[in-house]
Amino acid sequence: MSQLESLAKHSLVVADTGDIEAVARWRPQDATTNPSLLLISSEDPRYRRLVDSAIRDARGETSLAMDGLFVQFGKEILQYVAGRVSTEVDARLSFDMAGSIERARRLISLYERQGVSRERVLIKLAATWEGIRAAERLERERIHCNMTLLFSFAQAAACADAGVTLISPFVGRIYDWHRQARKVDDIPIEEDPGVASVVRIYNYYKKHGYRTQVMGASFRKTGQILALAGCDLLTIAPDLLQKLAAAPGSVDRKLSVEKAQADSPAKLELDEKAFRWLHNEDAMATEKLAEGIRRFAADAARLERLIVSLAAAAA
Ligand code: E4P
Repeated sequence: MSQLESLAKHSLVVADTGDIEAVARWRPQDATTNPSLLLISSEDPRYRRLVDSAIRDARGETSLAMDGLFVQFGKEILQYVAGRVSTEVDARLSFDMAGSIERARRLISLYERQGVSRERVLIKLAATWEGIRAAERLERERIHCNMTLLFSFAQAAACADAGVTLISPFVGRIYDWHRQARKVDDIPIEEDPGVASVVRIYNYYKKHGYRTQVMGASFRKTGQILALAGCDLLTIAPDLLQKLAAAPGSVDRKLSVEKAQADSPAKLELDEKAFRWLHNEDAMATEKLAEGIRRFAADAARLERLIVSLAAAAA
């Protein structure tokens, strides 16, 4: 048995990619995309037809073409997964609750017009205070949300209280920050702060009976993934899926509801002030959230420029 097959007995395996052919190859249960991944795929000649079709349908409205493009990719990906696809709201709305709600509703309506039910879509929003409040509202409309760019415990606690469907705590970007801060090439798995962050969040959720699912994301090496076997879901890039599939061996479960019961974390009650204070106390999380929003926003802007230039060439 491969490590990937063994891992799939403990956690739901998700593909983290905008490459439709990779999803078709791995046939995961769910798939996740983000603006950076979809920028790469949009520049790939194999998927040019999706860009062209989104541009045609949007009739000159660039932001609509971008959302339409995300939905085109999502719809194609859904042909190869039994579960859900995650589609991200424009990161430039990360501090705009009303704007995020509006864009999430538009994404869902574009999906529904293509015959895709909202039950098969997770709307990704940055786990800022505004993003979390937007998700709370959207969940009441049965628009299910995946809270991304999640680095601090404050973000995780607030997301669970808001009743969101799923969170994506980032392992690799936490590891990157600490590696840089400590000026080291690697941090062993047993001391990996990214892995520890997901374990803490998972135990807190299970101990307090939250229904929000935990999906570990952003991995740099297979050891980080294996250390989280048992987490509700794990979203994994194709290169790491390949490594796990090529490695023989059985994987032990590391996280479980039973183990979480042994922990006794105090329940956090976070209003806006307390949330902002606690998140700000975490230098890594503050920097990584800000940087993550900037990077996704920059890639969204690049995608818009691509759309504008292709639309002009087609006119
Ligand atoms: C998934 O939802 C995230 O967008 C993704 O895992 C981020 O990974 P990265 O840190 O490798 O960009």
